[in-house]
Amino acid sequence: MTGRIVVSRRIPEVGMSLLAAQPGVEVEVLEDAQDRGPARSRLLDAVATADVLLCLLTEAVDRELLSAGRRLRGVSQMAVGVDNVDMAAATELGIPVGHTPGVLTETTADLAWALLLATARRIPQAHRYQVEGRYRIWGPELFTGADVGSGGSGRRKVLGIVGFGRIGQAVARRSVGFDMEVLAHDPRNRDRVEAVLGVRWAPLDHLLSEADFVSLHTPLTPETHHLLGEEELRTMKSTAILVNTARGPVVDEAALVRALREGWIAGAGLDVYEDEPRMAPGLVDLPNVVLLPHVGSASIDTRDRMATMAAHNAVAFLQGERAPHTVDPGVYDTPAYRERTGG
Ligand code: DGY
Repeated sequence: MTGRIVVSRRIPEVGMSLLAAQPGVEVEVLEDAQDRGPARSRLLDAVATADVLLCLLTEAVDRELLSAGRRLRGVSQMAVGVDNVDMAAATELGIPVGHTPGVLTETTADLAWALLLATARRIPQAHRYQVEGRYRIWGPELFTGADVGSGGSGRRKVLGIVGFGRIGQAVARRSVGFDMEVLAHDPRNRDRVEAVLGVRWAPLDHLLSEADFVSLHTPLTPETHHLLGEEELRTMKSTAILVNTARGPVVDEAALVRALREGWIAGAGLDVYEDEPRMAPGLVDLPNVVLLPHVGSASIDTRDRMATMAAHNAVAFLQGERAPHTVDPGVYDTPAYRERTGG
């Protein structure tokens, strides 16, 4: 096997070693740093002579880039979400796109729960207070927050899950210990909802008006862009907490800032942003938010598994084979793919 794999940014060593172990394969890493991506011009130049592009969700894999990759046999992204890839253009050009589903489900569900608990119980705020040496005396109202379970009140709290794919279901499973009532909304997965742990399917407006906690787990598509805007945020309880570990543009972030400032809802735990890494003006100054830098899948083991999977997808593309995890497998049956791969 010969060929050239362009890696837009260095991935964990286990994935790099897997690529390096392929005899006759040239691997070029465009950026080694963790805190910046390659210049667009560099990416465009490199992709022109690449057989496979292995990239991250920070790269815009748009029609221009895909068209520049005249030799490309596949794009392997180290992420499950591919909203940064123009999938229509990829399929039209006969370029299969690989991704990393499944391996990050549990880790991301853990983080959604960590954010939910941290926001409800104001953990980062209390931590800051403690490390700044401001704790002088125990106080009955010092950092009081919201109960996640019934908290002895006898009222079961309601968890609303929007998007009931793998991660949404994993979030539901974790609610058992908190004895919550779980509502889920997912237009594509209604049958799956009722098969999990007594979770009840609900229309979005009903879920939003009933839930004490709303957790988002939907992919970003034209249908889910701004799924939660001003009207939906106003539908939520004033005591509710919103958690977003999915994609930023699912929420109208400017409306969310108003909602948090004006008390339409009580708090938000966010791992993703509408115009990442930037945040909507005012978000960072709010006292009722917990903000993380897109670390949903960031456990060492999971990132290793993602890197391994992305490398396997890349090697399969280079060999002219179907990748183990292709976003749109229909591409393999297109004349554009056959022409591109000489098949
Ligand atoms: C993904 O994979 O889509 C996440 O956002 C990063 O793990």
